[in-house]
Amino acid sequence: MKIKQIITIIGATGNMGSAISKSLSKGNYRLLLCANDRDKVEALAQDIKNDNPSADVESIDCSVNASYEADVIIVAVPYEAEKDVAQKIKEMANQKIVISIANPLNSTYNGLVTAPDTSAAEVLQKLLPNSKVVKAFNTTFAADFSTPVIDGKQVDAFIAGNDEEALQTVSELVSTAGFNPIVAGDLSFSRTLENMQLLLITLGMKYNYNWLAGWKILHN
Ligand SMILES: NC(=O)c1ccc[n+]([C@@H]2O[C@H](COP(=O)([O-])OP(=O)(O)OC[C@H]3O[C@@H](n4cnc5c(N)ncnc54)[C@H](OP(=O)(O)O)[C@@H]3O)[C@@H](O)[C@H]2O)c1
Repeated sequence: MKIKQIITIIGATGNMGSAISKSLSKGNYRLLLCANDRDKVEALAQDIKNDNPSADVESIDCSVNASYEADVIIVAVPYEAEKDVAQKIKEMANQKIVISIANPLNSTYNGLVTAPDTSAAEVLQKLLPNSKVVKAFNTTFAADFSTPVIDGKQVDAFIAGNDEEALQTVSELVSTAGFNPIVAGDLSFSRTLENMQLLLITLGMKYNYNWLAGWKILHN
């Protein structure tokens, strides 16, 4: 039998963190949830257990030790909070997979705050040099998690990273969440993936997609 992986979700009570937590609770994972407000985290863990009594989920304190047990750490906080989070998890995240879901949008949602020759994922990798940072889930909206099949088509979810085994593990997580995983390339492809979501956000606001929109590559 496959060993149950332990996933820590930092920022679990947010739009994305809660959507990811609910989706992954249906898989064969042990989830450790944390955010600033412990009461909200407890309530989320209880909600998940009410929906699915066999879910293996627990709320934990977002302290230095939050990532101690984890095999995979999902950083689901706003981009501006990542430096603070990285400082806290740096030691415990040694050699572990750290998923960057951030889209480093500016305050008017019409550009990215990162320089063109880098990305949020690469910035996180620099902050966590001994971790295996993988970009994932940034091209899916939080609302997509409850509807990963839109108009009869399973939404594609792009992944980027430098470590083959980590890419495989994250592809499985993306599948469990209901999306079709597509490995785009090494971590530098995160620049493209973060710009893709900027485009989708811009178009969503222009054409009123109501935040239920996703990417699908059609091919024969
Ligand atoms: N929303 C989307 O559809 C979407 C799609 C793709 C990617 N993303 C990316 O996902 C990330 C989260 O976005 P969101 O919309 O989910 O944001 P959000 O709703 O504001 O949630 C942010 C979460 O981070 C927690 N948090 C903030 N600072 C923290 C810290 N220093 N330590 C621990 N937890 C902290 C918050 O906890 P408290 O509430 O307790 O403070 C909250 O749980 C962003 O990087 C965003 O670019 C979002």
